[in-house]
Amino acid sequence: MAVIDVENLTQDYGHGRGVFDVSFSVDKGQVFGFLGPNGAGKSTTIRHIMGFSKPQKGSTKVFGLESFHNYYKILANVGYLPGEIALPEGLTGWEFIKMMSDLRKVDNKELLNRLLDMFKLNPSAETKKMSLGDKRKLAIVTAFMGDPDVLILDEPTSGLDPVMQQVFIDFVKEEKKRGKTILLSSHMFNEVDATCDMISIIKDGKIVSTFEASKIKHNENKNFEVTFSSKESYNEIFEIYPKSRNNLKTFKKISILSCNPEILTVNFAVNDKDINSFVQQLSNFNIKSFKENKFTLEDYFMQFYREDKDFGGVLWKK
Ligand SMILES: Nc1ncnc2c1ncn2[C@@H]1O[C@H](COP(=O)(O)OP(=O)(O)OP(=O)(O)O)[C@@H](O)[C@H]1O
Ligand SMILES: [Mg+2]
Repeated sequence: MAVIDVENLTQDYGHGRGVFDVSFSVDKGQVFGFLGPNGAGKSTTIRHIMGFSKPQKGSTKVFGLESFHNYYKILANVGYLPGEIALPEGLTGWEFIKMMSDLRKVDNKELLNRLLDMFKLNPSAETKKMSLGDKRKLAIVTAFMGDPDVLILDEPTSGLDPVMQQVFIDFVKEEKKRGKTILLSSHMFNEVDATCDMISIIKDGKIVSTFEASKIKHNENKNFEVTFSSKESYNEIFEIYPKSRNNLKTFKKISILSCNPEILTVNFAVNDKDINSFVQQLSNFNIKSFKENKFTLEDYFMQFYREDKDFGGVLWKK
């Protein structure tokens, strides 16, 4: 059974804003990335999963419990990190930690100290006077301090510096090994790439793609950039390979993605099974350099935002 289940969730705020027919599920032990730009609908979806809002249509469940009517149970058992952190006035970090520990009935000093140490947080200051990064660290520490089996984290690293972001990534990887189930919303490709097993991309309130993260790393479609030594070789290549971005939709053949006549560079789309014949063919030409441009999660994500540009085909869609 899925630990988190979102089925056809719709919350229409008007003027095209909100979330529409959103469905995905997170299995036990999975780290699930919910990737989307500002205003895409990540926090709206997460607030429904936590049970803070009643869906107009569809449903959200955690541990098989419908969220809205069970939000107390869900909040008590899930490590939650809100997208917008609103800390109560007049409390120090320590007092906030104490308040959250009492609310969630957790008392694990060893884990708390380990988290404070790991994220280099001194909670003595008043929360109001904390820097954005320290507030975020406080939210991370309180989400994890009860050692919950399930974590729902809305942009956990926004406001953290790159060193702390890496600390967070390493920590999530450790927690994943310990069998935790984590839903993580983000617009940072590196952290989603480094931690997630499954990824959903949300755009304008709709899920546009859900896929296994390994599909990106082991994509059988490659992009090679070749710089020719002579204008003759550069020109000749166009007689052999098709120059059509429509080819990318299937990516079955070797084809030209883009070219730059000034520096004699051509980008080729090549399927794994065609690499040998591609290299053999190229050996007949004068070549200055040859390199593979790795296809990244960012490349895939950006395709949903620039479908008409040169690298416009969708390599695979699910
Ligand atoms: N309570 C609300 N009333 C009206 N519109 C809302 C409400 N909450 C969110 N929206 C709108 O719904 C859309 C999705 O917002 P949401 O906060 O879910 O985006 P997000 O993906 O979390 O963005 P960000 O990365 O900026 O946090 C936005 O257009 C937002 O303005
Ligand atoms: Mg948000």
